[in-house]
Amino acid sequence: MSETAIRTEGLRKVYRTGFLRRAFVGLHGLDLEIPRGEVFGLIGPNGAGKTTTLKLLMGLNSPTSGTAQILGEPIGSMRAMARVGFLPERPYFYDYLTATEFLHFYGQLHGMPRARRIDMIDRLLPLVHMERARDTQLRKFSKGMLQRVGIAQALMNDPELVVLDEPSSGLDPMGRLLIRDIVRDLKTKGTTVLFCSHVLSDVEEVSDRVGILIAGKLQDVGTVDELVGKRETTVEVTLHGLTDDLVAELPLQPHRVSSRGHHIFEAADHSAARALVAAAVERGGELFGYVARRESLEQHFMDEATSVERQDREAGVR
Ligand SMILES: Nc1ncnc2c1ncn2[C@@H]1O[C@H](COP(=O)(O)OP(=O)(O)O)[C@@H](O)[C@H]1O
Ligand SMILES: [Mg+2]
Repeated sequence: MSETAIRTEGLRKVYRTGFLRRAFVGLHGLDLEIPRGEVFGLIGPNGAGKTTTLKLLMGLNSPTSGTAQILGEPIGSMRAMARVGFLPERPYFYDYLTATEFLHFYGQLHGMPRARRIDMIDRLLPLVHMERARDTQLRKFSKGMLQRVGIAQALMNDPELVVLDEPSSGLDPMGRLLIRDIVRDLKTKGTTVLFCSHVLSDVEEVSDRVGILIAGKLQDVGTVDELVGKRETTVEVTLHGLTDDLVAELPLQPHRVSSRGHHIFEAADHSAARALVAAAVERGGELFGYVARRESLEQHFMDEATSVERQDREAGVR
């Protein structure tokens, strides 16, 4: 069995656009190796080439040049796809199917027998907090609900590799935390996860390594600590619906109260933030915002983006 989940060598995609078929480089020769069991977060601004990369790996788009293997098989091969789960950027949902029917449909595509499909659906719907909507038609779902069902779909075949394109998109703060928990659970099981986001805080907490993709080029790869050096992380937690008496019982006191009556806390790290959220929710409070501040990674990222933009402008590439 291959110890490498994903390997790419010089993977490159050139798009031809417009009437004049002008060449546009979506991805410049990507060299990347992701070992099995790793959680890899690909970050980059809109248009960086994240979706292009994931689609190439999923065999949904063919590379202009270069090669790649997933789970030891060439990209696009049926043998590889049977062991992969994928959440596309814009999943297609069959409006008139219920959540359960939709998952059965995907299970059938994977050739899963009925009993196993039922078993997986019973496990996955609670995992994405959708058991109450199991018999509701997808056309009645909000964006966040669809995203949750999309994630359940990506896990339906109990994949060895899970690839998620912007899994937190459209989700509220609770939904974003849920995604991080799901990714963490997958990691505990030894599943490899490759996901991308343009939101740093979605990626940095759960990723073993992070890749920074800007203008189609992988600028940097490493653990968050390697990329920015060991620095303090603080988490800003915004809670709603708490009385002063309840606030007094919390493990942390608010930094300030907003004009709309939200209590804003500055937690020293994620575990302190989680303890605070748990205590507040238990007392009837509502989580309104959860933002990790690693200003240094943010700064690192912005610096890279600015310098790449400048170089490309000077070279007349973009
Ligand atoms: N099918 C396509 N034809 C032409 N250009 C494309 C196509 N798909 C993506 N692009 C361009 O390639 C760049 C990277 O896109 P994408 O991979 O979707 O970025 P990201 O997911 O990081 O936001 C963008 O500038 C986008 O406009
Ligand atoms: Mg994208």
